[in-house]
Amino acid sequence: MDRLNRRNALKAGGMLGVAGTLGLAATARAEPWTWSPEGSVAGSGSGLDPMTVWDPEADQLVAGLIDRGEVPKVNELLRTWTRNGQALPAGLPAELRDFMEYARRLPQWTDPGKLDTAISFNKKRGLYLGVLYGFASGMMSTVIPKEAKAVYYSKGGHDLKDRITKTAKLGYDIGSSNAYAADGEMIVTCVKTRLVHAAVRHLLPQSPHWVHSAEEDIPISQNDIMVTWHSLPTTVMKHLNNWKVPIPTHESEAFLHSWQVAGHLLGVRDEYIPKSWPDANSQAAQVLDPIIAATPEGAKLADRLLSLGANIDLSILSKPILGAFTRFLLGDKTADGLSIPREPVWDPLLQFAWGPFIAVREGALSIVPPLEDPYWLLDEFLRKAALIYLAELRMPISIEIPTMNRDM
Ligand code: HEM
Repeated sequence: MDRLNRRNALKAGGMLGVAGTLGLAATARAEPWTWSPEGSVAGSGSGLDPMTVWDPEADQLVAGLIDRGEVPKVNELLRTWTRNGQALPAGLPAELRDFMEYARRLPQWTDPGKLDTAISFNKKRGLYLGVLYGFASGMMSTVIPKEAKAVYYSKGGHDLKDRITKTAKLGYDIGSSNAYAADGEMIVTCVKTRLVHAAVRHLLPQSPHWVHSAEEDIPISQNDIMVTWHSLPTTVMKHLNNWKVPIPTHESEAFLHSWQVAGHLLGVRDEYIPKSWPDANSQAAQVLDPIIAATPEGAKLADRLLSLGANIDLSILSKPILGAFTRFLLGDKTADGLSIPREPVWDPLLQFAWGPFIAVREGALSIVPPLEDPYWLLDEFLRKAALIYLAELRMPISIEIPTMNRDM
């Protein structure tokens, strides 16, 4: 048996075991890639299945840095590079410096006016965005099987709280008032993340645990990045629309634009970045919706996320209440898959009172006595839940290129 066949046999055995215990569906996209590049910001493209595309420029470069033992020195230098407009530190290997100079450039289709509008939208809708990034996107990342496994078996998997904090930094940076400006941090965060992802592509295939449990040979394809991308802006916008939050078209387009730019800076090819919400929704229906499934690795990540609220408020942000909110946002199938228990008070409360609560907040409904108590309770929940991730960002956070996998 050659190496690949043995590896496949090993993996098949492992996957059957896991699927058997959890009763899981297949997690890879079963259908061929049919999303047209005409729906992308590029407007045209090769139409190549993004499942077969990674990030060749970054991947080769970072693999070389790891193999030559240059990463610790690079990380030390990059710790001082924090602002978008800041010059790169002296002393970086020349090919890395050249790549980063290229990777930090905003795409030529960037629209500064839209980025400004996105800032006011983020300010105006900060509370909703805070809870949705945390409990729609964050929890969803635990039921994206490839992502959950990659995170679990990579170095960051040993300290999930630290890992969550670092990811929260990106959500914070994109929402801040100077996100893409010279004194902001979003470009730096994206370029560093692109390097981290390249390192993970080199490292995870060397982890026997990951190889055993993963379906793919190389993690974090362009398809996978877009899956995660949809768990962020597409999912957030879907919930805001479901909640009937009034959002003028120019604001929702601006919000999308800030994420289009983020996708580009994370190394996604323009031909895979949707140009409009209908194009984003059609891509999400193809790549994200069918692959949502619980895994043992994802369930552990979810459990850790649900415990974060206890740092802020043990009562209203208790694990059962955050679990109920997750069930409310992601549905019974996902919540049951993550073994989130039913909550007798909060499950029905959210189901029946969240809609009217938002309507009152948005001025579409007056607050009348039967609504008063649930209104204040949900309002307190919303305000505190939005802080959960922010609270994790108190310390300065440095995104660093890993040199090893999780020590299991
Ligand atoms: C690292 C964001 C897609 C797996 C990171 C980091 C950020 C981030 C901010 C740095 C934090 C850290 O160093 O721990 C994003 C965003 C994505 C995306 C915004 C898409 C829009 C993905 C996908 C996968 C993935 C699709 C896997 C399938 C990982 C892993 C790490 C990482 C394994 C490194 C963890 C470690 O060992 O430190 N990502 N990511 N990411 N990401 Fe992503």
